[in-house]
Amino acid sequence: PNHKIAIVVGSIRTGSLNRKVARAMCAHSDALDCHIVEIADLPMYDPNLDGAEQPEPWQRFRREIAEADGVLFVTPEYNRSIPGVLKNAIDVGSRPYGKSCFAKKPAAIVTASPGALGGFGCNHQLRQCCVFLDMPVMAQPEAYLGGVKDDKFGEDGSITDPALDKLLHSLGTAFAGWVGMIRAGRDALAP
Ligand code: FNR
Repeated sequence: PNHKIAIVVGSIRTGSLNRKVARAMCAHSDALDCHIVEIADLPMYDPNLDGAEQPEPWQRFRREIAEADGVLFVTPEYNRSIPGVLKNAIDVGSRPYGKSCFAKKPAAIVTASPGALGGFGCNHQLRQCCVFLDMPVMAQPEAYLGGVKDDKFGEDGSITDPALDKLLHSLGTAFAGWVGMIRAGRDALAP
């Protein structure tokens, strides 16, 4: 693997479908060295603490993102929007002002839902955050994964649906290419 990828899963639910999707996508991609960055322990972002000693989980989250070559978001949609736990993680990572750990990191967004719309609303709202955070987000292929239920996975987390398997493989390959392209461009521009 030649790209270190921080995966942020927007669900902290035991048995999360999105976590399974994230794991399966990584298992597929030789070029990606993936690691899930946990968000369940992050205290709510609080600007009162800017300039004070930062909670350890905030520091840990920011460090893990900073060390990565790219960020992969895999998340459910809550109420047609970004789950609060994920939005909190984004807010934590974006601060202190001017020191966002997300800046310039190539990213991709995958939304998965048992419903038919595949988290389309959340996907695009998250994209909007990434644009503001100065993250080059992969545009294609898009990944609104609808109809994702437990029956798509085996006991070991492997995917039992060939169509989903193929889709995740192509997403992983495309993301590896995207990260490589952004990194090469950045190196070429470096003074
Ligand atoms: C949901 N769910 C949901 N699904 C969807 O497609 N669009 C939505 O707007 C919502 N809204 C929503 C709100 C809340 C508060 C919950 C708890 C759930 C259903 C959701 O997709 C489903 O629970 C998934 O299984 C969540 O993803 P994980 O936890 O399995 O990764």
